[in-house]
Amino acid sequence: MQVFTDPAGLSGPDRRRVLVPTMGALHDGHLALVRRAREAAGPAGELAVSIFVNPIQFDRPGDLAAYPRPLEDDLERCREAGVDLVFAPPADAMYLPDRSIHVHETSLSRTLCGATRPGHFDGVCTVVLKLFNLLRPVAAVFGEKDYQQLAIIRRLVRDLDVPVEILAVPTVREDDGLAMSSRNQRLSPEQRGDAPRIHRALAAAVSLRPTHPAPADLLAAVRADIESPLNRVDYLELVDPETLQPVVSPDNPDRPALLASAVFYGEVRLIDNQLLPPA
Ligand code: PAF
Repeated sequence: MQVFTDPAGLSGPDRRRVLVPTMGALHDGHLALVRRAREAAGPAGELAVSIFVNPIQFDRPGDLAAYPRPLEDDLERCREAGVDLVFAPPADAMYLPDRSIHVHETSLSRTLCGATRPGHFDGVCTVVLKLFNLLRPVAAVFGEKDYQQLAIIRRLVRDLDVPVEILAVPTVREDDGLAMSSRNQRLSPEQRGDAPRIHRALAAAVSLRPTHPAPADLLAAVRADIESPLNRVDYLELVDPETLQPVVSPDNPDRPALLASAVFYGEVRLIDNQLLPPA
């Protein structure tokens, strides 16, 4: 496995390269992305993982400082998973002090995480475009847990004619249903025990939707199931899965809808979502 920290050391791929962009602290959810990438690259292709805690997508300095960075463990997991190339640059190698250009998304980022984390998706789009330019993959793999991120990156490659195929992998969960996330390790044992209620409540909405056709009623029922003395709901929204715009009353039960939430446990913010099929 080759490890690069300096962008200048990278060379264009001489075989089919598939990239898994990550911020490290790799868990089984990332490994599902890595397996999908290997499948897409083929045995003769090149499987690349980037590990970079991207400072410009953090809106809270405390969250950036507390983000786990177990680089040696991550490299070991990559080796075991058969990764061919890791790109793990330091922040100052990616961003010059006088940089003045970034990507700005103006529609899909207005709701959900984008509404409560100003600038977050511009930071994600900017770094993903830079990673695509530096590593020149033919395809890149993202998780459906970050549904809005996935939708925005699909829009990024469509609108800017970026020749990278975007592949999606369903959310990987712990045995109790909690969506895997690098942030889970920052939960206290009590918070960790409480957090699976997020997925339980979102999943229950699939059967609640037919009896709660008004979005406000459905959202109130789900919110009541998510809330506990240990958490604070940042947002809970029912949106169109393509436009990410809120589903307004009366709900059209013939259309799928996406139920998405972000929930704080102390300083730790967890996201999850559930696609609701047409009723
Ligand atoms: O999903 C993530 O881990 C990050 O947002 C990404 C795509 C690696 C960009 O920093």
